[in-house]
Amino acid sequence: MTTVEFLASLKSSGIKIWIEDDQLRYRAPKGVMTSDLKQELVERKTEILTFLKQAEDVMSDKRLVTDVVPQKNVKSISQVECEKPSQIELWPSLAEFFVYDEFLYYVLTNDQRRNHSYKVAINRLVKDKVVVDIGTGKDAILARFCAEANARKVYAIEMSEKYYNSAKACINKLGLSDKITLILGDATKVNIPELADVCVSEIVGSIGGVEGAALILNNARRLLKEDGVMIPARSITKIAGVCLPDEFLQNPSFTEIPAYYTRKIFEQVGYPFDLRLCLRHFSKSSIISTSSIFEDLNFAGTIETEYSNEVNLTILKDSRLDGFVVWLNLHTIEGEVIDVLEHEYCWLPVYFPVFSPGIQVSEGDKIEAICSGWLCDNNLNPDYKIEGSVIKKTGKTIEFEYSSYHYKMAFQQTPFYKKLFSQSVINFNINSAVTTAIT
Ligand SMILES: C[S@@+](CC[C@H](N)C(=O)[O-])C[C@H]1O[C@@H](n2cnc3c(N)ncnc32)[C@H](O)[C@@H]1O
Repeated sequence: MTTVEFLASLKSSGIKIWIEDDQLRYRAPKGVMTSDLKQELVERKTEILTFLKQAEDVMSDKRLVTDVVPQKNVKSISQVECEKPSQIELWPSLAEFFVYDEFLYYVLTNDQRRNHSYKVAINRLVKDKVVVDIGTGKDAILARFCAEANARKVYAIEMSEKYYNSAKACINKLGLSDKITLILGDATKVNIPELADVCVSEIVGSIGGVEGAALILNNARRLLKEDGVMIPARSITKIAGVCLPDEFLQNPSFTEIPAYYTRKIFEQVGYPFDLRLCLRHFSKSSIISTSSIFEDLNFAGTIETEYSNEVNLTILKDSRLDGFVVWLNLHTIEGEVIDVLEHEYCWLPVYFPVFSPGIQVSEGDKIEAICSGWLCDNNLNPDYKIEGSVIKKTGKTIEFEYSSYHYKMAFQQTPFYKKLFSQSVINFNINSAVTTAIT
C-alpha cells in the first residue's frame, strides 16, 4: 500500500492524522485504532511525516492536509512561500483524465485567485439570469458563486455520480437546493428544463483544450438561448522557448504525489505511456524567446476542434534551447485574465521536451513552426504537434517535430522520457500497470 493509499484508508476509518511540533499525531474513534494498525503507523512514521510535509508544500497554503491538520497549525501563505523550494517538479497533465479525487477538488475549490477571476465574470453576468454549470464538481463551487451573485436559477451538471452526490449534500447543507438544481449525467447528453442565459464551466486544462472543452462547450450551446454567453469567454494558450536548469534535466523524475497520479493515469488508461508533462515551480527566467499563441479557443462562437497555427519566435539571449513551455491564459470575461505564469494556480505550465540534449542558440535566431491540434480517437481530448525549424543567424537550419499525445501507446520514445521513466519512483508502478493491462 502506498503512503497515499494508507492515509486514505485511515481517513475512511475516521482516523485523523496531523503533524504538530514536528510530531505525528492521530485522533481515532473509539475502538478503531487496533494494536496492529498502531504498529503499522509507528513503522511508517517517517514515510508519513515526509509525505505530509511534502503535501503541505504542494499546496502552499496547506490545502491537501486541511482536513487532518488543526487550523491553529496552519501557517500563513507568506510564511510558506518564503520556505518554498525553487526546485522544478514534474507533474502529469491531470485535467484530461478522470483522476479527480478529494485532493484535486480541494485544490480547485480553494484556488482563490482562480475563483476571484471567475467571480468577476459571474458577478457581471448572472444577476437574475438562468445559468447552466457544466461539470460542477464535488463542491458545486461555480454554481454557488452564481447563486451568491443572485442568478435566478442554476442548473449544475456533473457526470461523476460520487461527486454529484457530494455536491448535492453540499447544496442541501447550504440551503441552496431551491436555487441550484443538480443534474447527474454527461453534459453532452442531458437536457435542462429551460434554456440558459449563461453557461459557466471550468473544463479547461493546462493547454486550454486538453479536457475536451471544444467538444463539450460546442455541444453546450444547445442548452443556451441564442444570445447566451459563456464563462470563461476565451482560452489562449501561449508558447515560448525554454532553457531549464541542468540539475532538473540531468535527473528528471516524479516526486511521490505526482508519481501517485501518474500511476492512477496509467492504471486508468491500461498501459504506461509518455504522458503530457507539467512543471511546478517553473520560473519565467527560464524563457529564452519571445512568445506566441499555441492554441486559441474563443468560446463566444463554435470552437474549431482541429486547427493549425503559425508560430514565429525570436531567441532573446545566447542560450541552450531544451524545448517549449506552453501555458494557459484564461479570459473569464474580457479584461479578466488568469495567466498561469504570473502566479501559482491549479493549472501548471506544460513542458514539451523537444530537444534532448538541448541545442545551442544565439540572440536573434528564429523559430518558425506550425502548431496543430486535433481530437484523438476518443473524439474528446486533443493530440498536439509542433513542427518547424530553428533558423540560426549563420544560415544553419535545424528542423524538429514533436507530438504530444493524450494517451497514445508510446512509451520512452524520446531521450527525455527514457531518462524520466528509468529514474523515477514510478518504475514499480509501471510494472504493475503493465501487468494489469496484460492479464
Ligand atoms: C476541472 S473540474 C471543475 C469542477 C468545478 N466546476 C470547479 O470549477 O472547481 C471539471 C469537472 O467537470 C466534470 N465533467 C467533465 N466532463 C463532463 C461532462 N461531459 N459532463 C458533466 N460533467 C463533466 C468532471 O467530472 C469534473 O467534476
